[in-house]
Amino acid sequence: MATSLIVKPLSPAIGAEVGGVDLAKPPDEATFSAIHAAWMRHLVLLFRDQKLDDPGLERFSARFGALDRKPLYTDEVVDTTTSDYVCVISNVKIDDKPIGDLGDGESVWHTDMSYNEFPPLGAALHALEVPPGGGETGFTNMYLAYETLPPVLKRQVETLQCKHDATRNSAGGIRRGMSATSDPRTSPGAVHPMVRTHPVTGRNALYLGRRHNAYIVGLSLEESEALLNEIWAHATQPQFSWHHSWRVGDVLMWDNSCVMHRRNAFDPAARRVMHRTQIKGDKPVFQPLTAANLTVRA
Ligand code: SIN
Repeated sequence: MATSLIVKPLSPAIGAEVGGVDLAKPPDEATFSAIHAAWMRHLVLLFRDQKLDDPGLERFSARFGALDRKPLYTDEVVDTTTSDYVCVISNVKIDDKPIGDLGDGESVWHTDMSYNEFPPLGAALHALEVPPGGGETGFTNMYLAYETLPPVLKRQVETLQCKHDATRNSAGGIRRGMSATSDPRTSPGAVHPMVRTHPVTGRNALYLGRRHNAYIVGLSLEESEALLNEIWAHATQPQFSWHHSWRVGDVLMWDNSCVMHRRNAFDPAARRVMHRTQIKGDKPVFQPLTAANLTVRA
């Protein structure tokens, strides 16, 4: 029975807290359907006071689809997990070697692993240790960003594809096996439509990946930079977003096809340890004529 589930929106734009569920116990069908419906509606879900080990985090995430392998870490990371699917995000070091990625600095707005042909559908991030302040994670609603584009720009981006660079992570670190590039046209990565249709809701969202080393296919570098700057300035306006202040035991799930996220820097002397799973997704496509999009346009 899903009757004990309480869904409370966290901001006008995005996010809801879900109460009344212990993620360590496999949810029954009705509870799972209610969680899934809340996810599709609010894009980011927060579950407080959870106690999940890695197999538990994997089990819960796998209810939403097969898990995707974790992304490539930067070279210096020494992974202490035994799982191919649990990615560690941490500034903690053992013997001077980080146990996870992204350190303590800012992580810029991005979509997870959009440099892959099949980027993850979503992710679940579990807080195991958090700093007393800082390290908040922000989420932005890319449906809203798309729907509020000035009409001429909206029609233009619907025709465009963007190259998503694979060389650097969202904190600027070079991924294992990659080298720095100064030309986004030739760097490794995938090309995706700049507007993508959500595989479940049928709604369109701006699909930007990350700003650094992005390139709009077919334009000169200068034209691409100018247009990307204009689109990013629109997409990252505060009214589309919400920032979460973490507590130990929080689990946050985000829908990677219509949400970008970022993280604030925090005190390097503090410890932050987060474990993340990612759920396999489809190849992004743009289908302007779904029922949901016709309703939005009407
Ligand atoms: C991530 O980008 O997946 C991690 C966000 C965070 O560290 O809060």
